Amino acid sequence: MGTIFISSCILLLATQSCAYASRQVPLRQAETIQVGQELGWETLPLSSSKDLPFKLHELEPVPLAVNGDPDNRVDLVYFGDGLRIANLVSGSVQDTTSERDKFLHDAQSLTDTLLSPGGAFAPVRDLLNFWAVFIPSEESGIGTHGVPKNTTFGLYRPGEELRAVFYAYPERVAAACEALNSQRSNLQDGVRKAKAKHGCDEPILLANDGFYGGLGGTPTVITASPKNGVQVLRHEIGHTLIPVGEEYDGGYAYFGVNAAELQTNTSPQTVPWKHWLSDVEARGTGRVRLENSRVAVQAYPWFDLSNSSFTINFESGKGEYPTALLRFSISGIPDENHLDVSLDDQRVNFTLSKDHRGSLDRTWVQIPLTEGLTSSTDKSGLRQLANHTLEFTARVASSATRPMLSSVEVIEYGTEDK
Ligand SMILES: *[C@@H]1O[C@H](CO)[C@@H](O)[C@H](O)[C@H]1NC(C)=O
Ligand SMILES: *[C@@H]1O[C@H](CO)[C@@H](O)[C@H](O)[C@H]1NC(C)=O
Ligand SMILES: *[C@@H]1O[C@H](CO)[C@@H](O)[C@H](O)[C@H]1NC(C)=O
Ligand SMILES: *[C@@H]1O[C@H](CO)[C@@H](O)[C@H](O)[C@H]1NC(C)=O
Repeated sequence: MGTIFISSCILLLATQSCAYASRQVPLRQAETIQVGQELGWETLPLSSSKDLPFKLHELEPVPLAVNGDPDNRVDLVYFGDGLRIANLVSGSVQDTTSERDKFLHDAQSLTDTLLSPGGAFAPVRDLLNFWAVFIPSEESGIGTHGVPKNTTFGLYRPGEELRAVFYAYPERVAAACEALNSQRSNLQDGVRKAKAKHGCDEPILLANDGFYGGLGGTPTVITASPKNGVQVLRHEIGHTLIPVGEEYDGGYAYFGVNAAELQTNTSPQTVPWKHWLSDVEARGTGRVRLENSRVAVQAYPWFDLSNSSFTINFESGKGEYPTALLRFSISGIPDENHLDVSLDDQRVNFTLSKDHRGSLDRTWVQIPLTEGLTSSTDKSGLRQLANHTLEFTARVASSATRPMLSSVEVIEYGTEDK
């Protein structure tokens, strides 16, 4: 098991919406980047159906977006985890339908966003079918600190931070997915078959949890975070369905259709993803160019700011990079007044997006440092590396909010012509 940096978009497109969201997630072996349909389940120890906390023949896929015959479409199926129904045995009256309804609503809205015009999967929507299968769990929500709750698929966070979400029972997911495929082939009645045709090429575990998190691979794991669910879904599905690595520096998973191992002497025209450039002219004429930058800081502190500040000392370049960008991600910070950020003892002003205000979920902040980072000069006037200090201090902390600094980057950039 290694450590890999995952960020929140699938492809390194020439859009700014990509690449700001980075998180550090332990991924399991090589399971991440494989083509869903070619993944056999035979390597997984299948539970016998009597060990399963659900009945395979009772699974009911609800169609969310059906664009064609499952035999020649990629069928993606959400399975909810940590969703409860009433305990009828004890006779207690609970709000039984709401967790099911919420799951179906979340799954529908994730799907609609992905497939809508301009959505990440809009260009391939005709090739995809989406389904949702509700299976109740004994407990609501997912585990933390490495301990699953009593839920169908046993989803849990390894700690408390908003980062990876793992599963305890992959064999149950495999059995459920397989069952949807065999239900299809077992249907006898022609009319019913035409109506009930469904399949499962790739399962997506949707955690009943409102905060950022997920995992690539089979099964793909995401959460019902209203703020971050869609970007995590498109990123993780990207890993799962197509051979796409990460889109940023600093992790080892730099490979796949979005990677370009350019040496300084190779022509930028050889980048394999130039057809994705938003600059249409550049695609045809080869105006692709390399842009200079220097990563001065790339850190994943996952630091709880409740009781103390977090400080990063770093060196900037020798003045060859006139501008820079400070980018960080935080959680448990619903308002910018709850966090002080300073660079070399100067207050750094920032605002949280309107959309984030009031939320404790993870969010990203980007601050252009238009003056760049100052560098010093020595006696002979030569520029020197300069030391800098970044400091993050929570002004409002409580056990309820748990302010956390997740990631910090400082990237220096060249002039407009570089
Ligand atoms: C989970 O709940 C079920 C149903 O109440 C129970 O039979 C089972 O023992 C529980 N499992 C664990 C690990 O607590
Ligand atoms: C902060 O201080 C409180 C009280 O001393 C302590 O219980 C808590 O564990 C501390 N939190 C961290 C993240 O150090
Ligand atoms: C940051 O905001 C404060 C208060 O609004 C203001 O006085 C200060 O000039 C700002 N600093 C920068 C670098 O914009
Ligand atoms: C930067 O810090 C390092 C280590 O703390 C020190 O050795 C170096 O002299 C400092 N550089 C400058 C330009 O102050």
